[in-house]
Amino acid sequence: MEKEKAEQEEQVVNPWEVSAKGTGKIDYDKLIDQFGCQRLDKSFVDRVFRLTSRTPHMFLRRNVFFAHRDFNEILDAYERGEKFYLYTGRGPSSEALHLGHLVPFMFTKYLQEAFKVPLVIQLTDDEKCMWKNLTVEESKRLARENAKDIIACGFDISRTFIFSDFDYVGGAFYENMVKVAKCVTYNKVVGIFGFTGEDHIGKISFPPVQAVPSFPSHSIYWGMGSDDASGHSNFVDAMMRQDPYFRMTRDVAPRLGYNKPALIESLFFPTLQGETGKMSASDANSAIYVTDSQKDIKYKVNKYAFSGGKDSVENHRKYGANLEVDIPFKYLSFFLDDDEELEHIRKEYARAAVTDEMVDAFMAVRPLPNMFN
Ligand code: TRP
Repeated sequence: MEKEKAEQEEQVVNPWEVSAKGTGKIDYDKLIDQFGCQRLDKSFVDRVFRLTSRTPHMFLRRNVFFAHRDFNEILDAYERGEKFYLYTGRGPSSEALHLGHLVPFMFTKYLQEAFKVPLVIQLTDDEKCMWKNLTVEESKRLARENAKDIIACGFDISRTFIFSDFDYVGGAFYENMVKVAKCVTYNKVVGIFGFTGEDHIGKISFPPVQAVPSFPSHSIYWGMGSDDASGHSNFVDAMMRQDPYFRMTRDVAPRLGYNKPALIESLFFPTLQGETGKMSASDANSAIYVTDSQKDIKYKVNKYAFSGGKDSVENHRKYGANLEVDIPFKYLSFFLDDDEELEHIRKEYARAAVTDEMVDAFMAVRPLPNMFN
């Protein structure tokens, strides 16, 4: 027991903290065991290729998305011609998204295109108001700013609904929150999230808010005049640190008569300073933001990116760089393999092109004319 506890404390991964003792490197195999999810092996990549008849996204091919829960069941449902929808989200804690934040959105965009499915994106402005001590107004403003970065990833408006918790929670959503809350004891959330007696009760009561979009009757169909959703499955795309929310959600789903959401989960994205876990969105020098100019990016990479190069030219020539720890190389392995393509990505995520009208259009409650085809 003691030993188990000590082992667990060697690495801490929850929605608010990612850290590991010693080298600072996360042991993903251990994490999969600890969390009880499954490894995403190559057979999934091949199956996705067969089912979608298109080359699987590089995040699948390169195992950036490396863990899952019941992904096979979603693929089975798809193969049988059944409907499902995607759910992902963003806690708007910074003015702009950085590269690490783009990973789940780029991947969701691919999934939406490959499987032709509807998508809901939750902006948890309430969460960040409570955790980051932002005002309600500031959190709502950041949610809209972040929506621009997200839209710039290229989502299909005819299949995508983005909402802010502050604007949207109420009605059927709130009814479901209360149902979820009634299934979860205080001891349970303490066990899953590590809350203490010093945490304010807003934090303790938040988890149902992130759980509810997993339930189809109250997500893509909320207030949209469709009641044909009860049996539909849902597929959540998340960074691994969000897993605790969905462990809780999967636990309560059957008791409420819903399917358990399936999940697909990604690696952590390293900071410029090195692979020590999650990048802090508040330290501008630890990350590359979508709003950074090409000049900023060049400066940050040159000045801050941890290099795997050797200490002298001779040694470097002789032994080469250690690509295991080299951050520029890591970033390229997440995103692309040459500088020309880096420039292409910068252009593709040209968020300046997203207007307030587009944000309104994506956030409007409306029927989605193109949901499944
Ligand atoms: N809590 C997440 C964050 O801090 C935001 C979020 C809400 C989310 N719903 C989600 C992330 C579903 C992944 C999947 O960023």
